[in-house]
Amino acid sequence: MPVRPLFPTLVYTAPLQGAGRLALNRELLKETRQIREHDVAGRQWSARRYPGGYTSYGSLCHLQKMSSTFAALERKLQRHVSAYVKSLELEMAGRALVMTDCWVNVMGRQVAHGLHLHPLATISGTYYVQAPRGCSGLKLEDPRLDRFMGAPPRRSDCRPENRPWVTIPARAGHLVLFESWLRHEVPTNQSAGERVSISFNYNWF
Ligand code: NI
Repeated sequence: MPVRPLFPTLVYTAPLQGAGRLALNRELLKETRQIREHDVAGRQWSARRYPGGYTSYGSLCHLQKMSSTFAALERKLQRHVSAYVKSLELEMAGRALVMTDCWVNVMGRQVAHGLHLHPLATISGTYYVQAPRGCSGLKLEDPRLDRFMGAPPRRSDCRPENRPWVTIPARAGHLVLFESWLRHEVPTNQSAGERVSISFNYNWF
């Protein structure tokens, strides 16, 4: 083919681990509920900025340092982050990517999280603890979207790499990694049950 892709946006998706997923998720779910119950400041923060849902982003955002279960998750994420860094061909120059933030998100029915990116971070991602049938995925936006001024729309059956938005389904036990500048959102959750995820940032030190 005379056409080649340049400047791709690489996104990593994988199951966290083989066996042991159910036990880990059970423990993470239990702790997430305990955190929500005790985190008065976080519930107040969420009431203003995350209507209908709960996130510990504004109150408890270093959970990998507070809980051995979240620390175990951080350890399990490491090989995935390393594989992603390799595929991005980042020149690390002997420096490390370190998890700086880790927080929980609980989205009930009709809860949404609008378009945003993760400033002051290099790689961001989410691990899904509980993803009820029909719950929202992670909607990613083409970072060049604001340059498409006069471009015709894409065909509705176009390949994923040519779409202006791509939604990665939320699957319990799976994770998504992306570069932190990539804008994304969680559209309104239509599932009856709670969609529970753990988000995190890595920075380059
Ligand atoms: Ni996000």
